[in-house]
Formats: sequence, structure tokens, C-alpha cells
Amino acid sequence: MKNIFRFSDSRKVASLTAFSVIGVYAIFVLIIWLVFQQPIGFLFFGLGVGIWVAVYFITLLFVDKFIFSKIRVIYKTIHSQKVPKDIDPKQTIDAHSIEDVQREVTEWSNERKAEIENLKGLEKYRREYIGNISHELKTPVFNIQGYILTLLDGGLEDPTINRTYLAKAEKSINRLIAIIEDLETINLLESNELKLNLNRFNLVDVAREAVESLEMKAKKRDCEVFINYNLERPIYVLADRQRILQVVTNLIDNAIKYGKKTGGHIKISFFDMDENILVEITDDGPGIAQNDIPHLFERFYRVDKGRSRDMGGTGLGLAIVKHIIEAHHQTVNVRSTLGVGTTFGFTLKKA
Ligand SMILES: Nc1ncnc2c1ncn2[C@@H]1O[C@H](COP(=O)(O)OP(=O)(O)OP(=O)(O)O)[C@@H](O)[C@H]1O
Ligand SMILES: [Mg+2]
Repeated sequence: MKNIFRFSDSRKVASLTAFSVIGVYAIFVLIIWLVFQQPIGFLFFGLGVGIWVAVYFITLLFVDKFIFSKIRVIYKTIHSQKVPKDIDPKQTIDAHSIEDVQREVTEWSNERKAEIENLKGLEKYRREYIGNISHELKTPVFNIQGYILTLLDGGLEDPTINRTYLAKAEKSINRLIAIIEDLETINLLESNELKLNLNRFNLVDVAREAVESLEMKAKKRDCEVFINYNLERPIYVLADRQRILQVVTNLIDNAIKYGKKTGGHIKISFFDMDENILVEITDDGPGIAQNDIPHLFERFYRVDKGRSRDMGGTGLGLAIVKHIIEAHHQTVNVRSTLGVGTTFGFTLKKA
């Protein structure tokens, strides 16, 4: 074991005490000399040296025994907490003075403070997360319960409602499935367990596929989804095709749901940015207020909660989009003007 502030600090305290005592002794000798006019001989000098040595060693002993030995224990406890578990804390002791110990203890206390803040944040997040999930699951579960109870209460024999209620119950079940699938995806993405399946593919094809899958939804709102690009010219990128299809579908789906109520125009554009390709999805809907924009990519965040829920939205879509794009080490952004429309954009690496 290396010395931990054993000698230099004890010595400093001991000499300071010894010199203080000698100071008092010198005044005492001076008074004797002035009052009694006695010459100061070797006896007083020798006595002075003796007192100094005695005080020095007694203080050294006491300071070490009663103060520093206790500080050492506190220091060692704190130090062993700072050092990673697989390293022997004795090997890393670098405190040789009280100042070193003070520095280490301050560092230790700051680290603990930061850790506690972090844990508090996680705990708050966990509570909110569970609260949000149960809130989201409640609506479809209670709907299903309502339809089934009505059917059991005689609705089953009523041909005017039995089929429609079953169909409605099935719709709520589909909603439950969608929420669970979104939660699973978020979980995978957040625990970094999602392995990207990187391949070279044509991004224009992916955009076309996404538009086709949402054709019926767009038609219902009399909405035109238009790819602003020559479909015959491929754009090759290196990415996970399935995940990018999910991103594009999510963004077009949002543009349809939250864009103009009817007769909206949605445009998908591609921009060459040297190494990357920028994809933009623009709608001419009501837009998003500036103070909502920083929160859009948070889980469960919805600008107009009522409307969003009516649309079947969970508020996980954009959180998933952000995770997928960030997993590709690319960026996603949004700009919006109230009353004019919104543009979501993301980049991908060209291949
Ligand atoms: N193009 C847009 N125009 C206006 N508001 C939008 C647009 N896209 C998203 N939003 C707002 O952002 C919120 C979050 O979108 P997000 O895709 O995360 O959730 P969602 O669409 O409601 O649900 P989910 O995608 O999980 O089905 C939406 O509820 C909506 O309020
Ligand atoms: Mg969405």
C-alpha cells in the first residue's frame, strides 16, 4: 500500500504546532528576561529545543492516530467506489496530501450528483412511458369490451348491429396490434438490438411502393400524392430497405392524416447532396406551430391529441423514423409554416 498523506501532512501540522508553542515559550523567556533581568543562557535555549521536539512528535502521533487514520478510511471507501470493479483500488491510489484527497472527494461527489440526476431522469421517463402505454392501450381495450358486452346482451341476435360491432371490435384489435408492434420496434431501436440489413437498392422504387400502399387512404381524403422525379431514373442508396420503406410510409401517412382535410397535395422530392441523397415529403396542410417542432420526434408526442387519436395515431411514428435514420448515421429534419404546410426531410448515403 502506498502512503496516503501520511507524512507530509502530519509533519506540516506537527511543525506548525511546535512552532506555535515555541513562539509562546519565546515570549515567556522574553518576559523573564525583561522582568528579572536574567541572562538567557544555554539552559533556556536547550529547553526550547526540547519543547519543540517533544511537541512535534506528540502532535505527529496524535494527528496521525486520531485524525488522519480516520480520514484515510473515508478516503479509501470513496476511492474504491470510484475505481472500476475489476481494478484493485489499492493500485490506483494517487493521493499524497490532503489537497489530493479533497480533489478526489469533490470529484466523487460531483459524479454521484450527476448519477443521481440521471437516475431521476430515467425514473421520470419510465413513469411517463408506462403511463403513456397504459393510456394508449385503454381506448381500444375498452372499445372491444363495449362491443362484446353489447353483443352478449342480445346484440348478437340483432342483425342490424352484430356484424358491424364485430367489425368495429376487430378494428380496435388491429389498433392494439399496431401499438404493440410500434412499441416492440421502439424497444429494439432503443436497446440498439436492431441490426440493420444494409443493402444497395433503388430509393425511387421504395417511394413508389410506399405511395401505392397508401393509395386507398389518400383517395378517401381526395389527396394527391406525387413523386416529383422521373421514375425511370434510379437513385441507389446503401441502407436497410425494409426500415426505409417504414420511414417513407410513416412520413407520407402523416402528410395524408395531418395535411389538408380534403384535396391536399403531397410531394416527394429527391435532392443530390454529393455523398448523400436528401428525400423530402411536403404537404400543404395546416402546418405545425414552432413550439411543437422540437417535440415532434418524442415518443407519444402529438400536436392535436384528439385529432391524432381519431386518426389512429399513437405518436410513435416519428420517434421510430428518427431512430431508424440515426441508426443509419444520417439526419432527419422538419420545417413548417402555419397555414402553408410542412416538409419532413431525411438523408441517406448514396451507393
Ligand atoms: N405532416 C404533418 N403535418 C402536421 N402535423 C404533423 C405532421 N406529421 C406529424 N404531425 C404531428 O406530429 C405528431 C406525431 O406524429 P407521429 O407520426 O409520431 O404520430 P402519429 O402519426 O400520431 O401516430 P403513429 O405514427 O404512431 O400512428 C402527430 O400526432 C401530429 O400531431
Ligand atoms: Mg405517424
